Amino acid sequence: MERLQKILAQAGIASRRKCEELILSGQVEVNGEPVTTLGVKADPAVDVITVKGRPIKSESKLYLMLNKPKGVITSANDPQGRKIVSDYLPGIKERVYPVGRLDYDTEGLLLLTNDGEFANLLTHPSHHVPKTYWATVKGVPHGSSLEKLQKGVLLEDGITAPAELEYHDVDTAKNQATITITIYEGRNRQVRRMFDAISHPVILLRRIKFGDLTMHGLARGKYRHLTPKEVEQLRASALKTHKIQK
Ligand code: URA
Repeated sequence: MERLQKILAQAGIASRRKCEELILSGQVEVNGEPVTTLGVKADPAVDVITVKGRPIKSESKLYLMLNKPKGVITSANDPQGRKIVSDYLPGIKERVYPVGRLDYDTEGLLLLTNDGEFANLLTHPSHHVPKTYWATVKGVPHGSSLEKLQKGVLLEDGITAPAELEYHDVDTAKNQATITITIYEGRNRQVRRMFDAISHPVILLRRIKFGDLTMHGLARGKYRHLTPKEVEQLRASALKTHKIQK
């Protein structure tokens, strides 16, 4: 037995708070009876739970990690017919959603799940789960430019939170540098925009770490299931970083 709002959130209806609002506004029924108070428990395997008259789907929870190749879109479908992440999930019949996004041209670690609450937890703006990227950029940024990114740089949607940066390689012949950057936010195209802001556009971008999770030799284009321990570690990482002040 679980609390109703938890069951609804896990079924991907909305965040737990929004689900509480749905309950309080009388839009949720259990076995045909409206439930309008919080704290009611149900068993999704036995009880018929409906939201606005529609039964919720409670499937077993899946947590996957994909080493997304470049040139793949993280949406469920693409009107332009480009490759989508589900093309890389043979054998997965359940509908899973990306936890946050990776750009079409970005490769690397992408989490996918059908657990809406888990996805909300990891991507909620008040949580600051670290994400590390391997970025090859045009030119060789000076220390002062990198310092700007470390401290926070002004983008059109506001100043970024402090980030961590480390030089890996400078290729003077190609006039490019490879840098790892760890950010604690998840804004749209954030890493690319941060490097654009210091006039060193990104040539190649690969996410190599999400929380403490790395890809551990998972080949490009391949996926694997997360272990229960990894799922718990990610959850803990999101809760630990809850409401860290910028
Ligand atoms: N930052 C970007 O610019 N792109 C991504 O895909 C992820 C982070």
